[in-house]
Amino acid sequence: MAKKNQTLGEFIIENQQAFPYSSGELSRLINSIRLAAKVVNHEVNKAGLVDITGAAGDTNIQGEQQQKLDVYANERFIQTLTNREIVCGIASEENDEYITIQGHNNDHKNKYVVLMDPLDGSSNIDVNVSVGTIFSIYRRVTPIGTPVTMEDFLQPGNLQVAAGYIVYGTSTMLVYTTGHGVNGFTLNPAIGTYYLSHPDMKFSEDGNIYSVNEGNYAQFPKGVKDYIKYCQAEEGDRPYTSRYIGSLVSDIHRNMIKGGIYIYPSSSKYPNGKLRLLYECNPMAFLAEQAGGKASDGERRIMDIKPEELHERSPFYCGSKNMVEKAEEFLQNAK
Ligand code: AHG
Ligand code: MN
Ligand code: MN
Ligand code: MN
Repeated sequence: MAKKNQTLGEFIIENQQAFPYSSGELSRLINSIRLAAKVVNHEVNKAGLVDITGAAGDTNIQGEQQQKLDVYANERFIQTLTNREIVCGIASEENDEYITIQGHNNDHKNKYVVLMDPLDGSSNIDVNVSVGTIFSIYRRVTPIGTPVTMEDFLQPGNLQVAAGYIVYGTSTMLVYTTGHGVNGFTLNPAIGTYYLSHPDMKFSEDGNIYSVNEGNYAQFPKGVKDYIKYCQAEEGDRPYTSRYIGSLVSDIHRNMIKGGIYIYPSSSKYPNGKLRLLYECNPMAFLAEQAGGKASDGERRIMDIKPEELHERSPFYCGSKNMVEKAEEFLQNAK
């Protein structure tokens, strides 16, 4: 049972039995994410003081300029996860290919794969606006004792065993699920401990915030334009409030607490949207559903999509259930 102000360490131990395959390994994996997040948090907090803002000089496979903190966070998480003898493979937004971890004695005995967006919201780093980390965890599907293959990474979201995010905001929070609801922990930076501050987080069924990059309005499909007009209409509890930070983690976090919908639709510029199915949409969809919300690509449940490529993108509609269903209705009617 979640008890407010319990530490994350206590919570993990107490809830270990509720984890699927409760061997303790998944708990240790969450523990290593918690550790890497503290180190990255420390670095993010220094942005502006030391030379860690700005571009790193390379372009990643997404066609984006990598920021120094993208590279730093990526290295930190990979290093921490590699050292733990639990993870057999890592796929990251920042790496072209997945990484194989041989494990102790090079015996490929580790059971879990981690997919991650090490630093979400890179464009906000230089302006002191919240950024985050997103992670998604699966059990491998190939036999233990053999190296991981692409099959281990291209699993549908409905097979995730855990997922979560860290938001490096006004305070730093780690929010995660193992399929038994969503719990949020706030870091006390003075002592380096996370405390359960948001037990059993829930999306309200209805909300009054819509979050979409309206600068791209002209490029949106008709159904999305119609839905935006609906959000803006003076009727009943509308117009809704528009809030868009440009960091998926922060936008979803706010909407989960306050009630709302996040949309990154397909557009003439991005026919499949911009967000990555494996590193962004699936983990957020798992959290959203565990919090009573909904996540779709406009038609299909995000977590039922069978991925075909590591860096595949998907349109994304995520948040309060009734709002997502309303947006889907507009998309359907515009066909
Ligand atoms: P990342 O920084 O990991 O590449 O992700 C950026 C994503 C996401 O965080 C955000 O919601 C979205 O891009 C913003 O895109 P636009 O600037 O096109 O609105
Ligand atoms: Mn990026
Ligand atoms: Mn991202
Ligand atoms: Mn990123």
